[in-house]
Amino acid sequence: MAEYMAGNVGDYVDGDRKVVVCGDSEVGVFRIGDEFYAWHNRCAHRAGPVCQGRIMKRVLEPVASDKTTRTQEYDEAESHIICPWHGYEFSIKTGFHQGNNRVRLRKAELQIRNGEIYVSV
Ligand code: FES
Repeated sequence: MAEYMAGNVGDYVDGDRKVVVCGDSEVGVFRIGDEFYAWHNRCAHRAGPVCQGRIMKRVLEPVASDKTTRTQEYDEAESHIICPWHGYEFSIKTGFHQGNNRVRLRKAELQIRNGEIYVSV
């Protein structure tokens, strides 16, 4: 397994992402709060460049007491990445697709040593 440097912790602010070339593949490194996550840049659907997609908060659709929905709101605790090819949406923390928990991104190994971020593929 080869290891690649993905920058320094200080290079990332909350919500940042970098896509790192790792030999013949790519890995997306994400910072959410003080935590870092790394996923292979191949969508679980049809291998699109999922890590280069739009990042947004999870959308919620509250159901009113009369069983109607009239608005949408964001879940500030949950960030998602949306694949640019067909719109599949994945949790950045878990890698799971939001509508089908059998569909998940492939995790890459991530280590932080002396403030430097390394991914292994
Ligand atoms: S390849 Fe990502 S949604 Fe289809």
